[in-house]
Amino acid sequence: MLSQSLAARGARALSTKAKPLKVAVLGASGGIGQPLALLCKLSPLIDEVACYDVVGTPGVAADLSHCPTPAKVTGNLPAAETWPPSENVGLKAALTGCDVVVIPAGVPRKPGMTRDDLFNTNASIVKTLVEGCGKYCPDATLAIISNPVNSTVPIAAEVLKKMGVYNPKKLCGVTTLDVCRANTFVAANQERLGLSPKDVNVTVIGGHAGITILPLLSQVPNATFSDADREALTVRIQFGGDEVVKAKAGAGSATLSMAYAGYLFTEGVIKAMKGEDITMCAYVESSLTDAPYFASPCKFGPDGVKEVLPFGPLSAYEQSWFDKMMPELKAQIAKGIEFAK
Ligand code: NAD
Ligand code: LMR
Repeated sequence: MLSQSLAARGARALSTKAKPLKVAVLGASGGIGQPLALLCKLSPLIDEVACYDVVGTPGVAADLSHCPTPAKVTGNLPAAETWPPSENVGLKAALTGCDVVVIPAGVPRKPGMTRDDLFNTNASIVKTLVEGCGKYCPDATLAIISNPVNSTVPIAAEVLKKMGVYNPKKLCGVTTLDVCRANTFVAANQERLGLSPKDVNVTVIGGHAGITILPLLSQVPNATFSDADREALTVRIQFGGDEVVKAKAGAGSATLSMAYAGYLFTEGVIKAMKGEDITMCAYVESSLTDAPYFASPCKFGPDGVKEVLPFGPLSAYEQSWFDKMMPELKAQIAKGIEFAK
């Protein structure tokens, strides 16, 4: 009798145990991928971290696995090429059962390059990896970091549409680094308010490249900016990536701050999956403007983006940047869609 009720309780406990939360990092051996995978390994929200790259992931995974946290880590490489081509067993293993896939795979900028100069290399990388996501984890939320984000997100959407598994709520371009930069630079500028960057939350809209990045400084509560400061801050946020590319002098672009931002975004998506109310800026399919993809604050829920929120009134200064931005953003989106056709 006693053992029967224990068995029944055990069975109930088993049946209510939540499914393990699995995150894959594609491009996990890279400058962003390694610290991002580390942050995922340290997270109490994540049960399994699947590292996938074309090189190096067995080493990355072995290294991470010595961190004393419960999350399981796997290192996955593509299968050796065969004829006839068989499926990529490494990608399949990394993606099967995934809840969130974060994609920082691809080449970074060198000084003098725009993000669009990465298109020819990164477009195909993202296309192939997203095909894998459509095949092995069609219900996962995809967080695209690979540049040019303004074009790689539309590419991902077209790939998933062709496969019949596109869900606009589950495809995001990660623009969190723009928000991190805006919060950091604004807090430093408003020193008299004694602000910590952690207490600032600037809405950054548009896209993720140069003038397509538009911080809405007019909406920062209690902050006041001189005209010169507003201009300097706006341009610094728009071209924050170039600041890092220049300082790294040929050794790549932002990796550590991006890993932090990529983890913040991933954590937000997972918290929302687990029932918390989360609002974060993301570059998503959108009907807020006449650009089919646009970054704005989004409410996240258990199934990804629950609502694309309006971004509120623009000051005259912001409106002039908005007008300059739209043709550029729309052209970069069209380029991505055209590539995937
Ligand atoms: P990196 O060169 O250090 O790492 C990229 C990794 O991708 C490498 O390990 C490489 O082996 C891997 N890779 C290449 N092709 C692959 C494929 N087909 N499958 C799996 N992995 C593959 O570069 P990084 O500094 O980590 O930057 C990666 C990307 O992120 C760049 O495109 C960069 O522009 C972009 N980025 C975006 C943001 C953002 O805010 N969205 C910020 C920083 C960097
Ligand atoms: C960034 O904003 O740091 C990234 O998009 C990388 C880059 O090329 O600037």
